[in-house]
Amino acid sequence: MGNRKWRTAISCHIGRETYVRGYKLLDLVGRLSFAQAIYLVLKGELPDERESKMMEAMLVSVIEHSIAPPSVISARAIASGGNSLNVGVAGGILAFGSAHGGAIEDAMRFFQENVGKNVEEVVGQYLSQKKPIPGYGHRYYKDFDPRTKKLMELAKKLNFYGKYCEFAQRVEEEIYKQKGKRIVLNVDGAIGAIASEMGFDWRIGKGFFIIGRVPGLVAHVYEELTREKPFSKRLNEEEEVEYYGPEPRELPPNFKGI
Ligand SMILES: CC(C)(COP(=O)(O)OP(=O)(O)OC[C@H]1O[C@@H](n2cnc3c(N)ncnc32)[C@H](O)[C@@H]1OP(=O)(O)O)[C@@H](O)C(=O)NCCC(=O)NCCS
Repeated sequence: MGNRKWRTAISCHIGRETYVRGYKLLDLVGRLSFAQAIYLVLKGELPDERESKMMEAMLVSVIEHSIAPPSVISARAIASGGNSLNVGVAGGILAFGSAHGGAIEDAMRFFQENVGKNVEEVVGQYLSQKKPIPGYGHRYYKDFDPRTKKLMELAKKLNFYGKYCEFAQRVEEEIYKQKGKRIVLNVDGAIGAIASEMGFDWRIGKGFFIIGRVPGLVAHVYEELTREKPFSKRLNEEEEVEYYGPEPRELPPNFKGI
């Protein structure tokens, strides 16, 4: 191992040729699907047929989910302030967090650290501490997340339904048992479980959502820039905002200002 300051095992140039994980970039162009190339660059090896299909499905499942989520609101609001496409998209990515988009990483960590443990105890600990279990719950889906259903069916068909998926679904049932309320295994949880089956480390989890959702963000920012007026995302304070601060008041006469 050399001692140069910058090190990478991802890609390099040899002469004028680019190599990605050891393969000539130009040999990949026209032969690999985008999802296969993503798998290669993230995992370091080419996916087989099953891995390719699963990867495609996971990325497509998060490509878009309406104008409502925080990332799209942020991206479009930033674009509406008079910024360029990259600024709007970057703003959207910054809105990914533990409640939206970022939960894949937390869910993968939860599965990888808890699989094999007693489900009743694991769930009990989270619920008693009022800690949200990552990968469960959704603002919109209350009975089941249809994306989870589809991905889990596919995982079964492609033989990726193993200990992590089984654990993830047992946790969902256990939450229902202990809480008496259905808190669904959401798409982040489903991707987290399946990506764990595929051998991905939890620290790469957020990457799945970022890679999958950026096309949606690009489309939204482009639409905002080309179809809407600048500054159109200003709130209508009378209809959309509830002010609950102090009533208008005078500065105290004895207040020592500058
Ligand atoms: C997504 C999320 C913010 C939605 O929250 P929400 O709309 O407040 O959810 P609900 O109103 O349906 O919550 C109902 C109850 O379930 C609880 N709950 C919701 N998600 C929970 C979770 N992941 N783990 C444990 N309890 C949860 C709530 O605390 C609430 O409890 P209460 O009735 O005792 O007050 C929330 O579920 C969450 O933080 N999930 C974990 C992160 C995650 O996976 N995010 C990705 C979403 S795609």
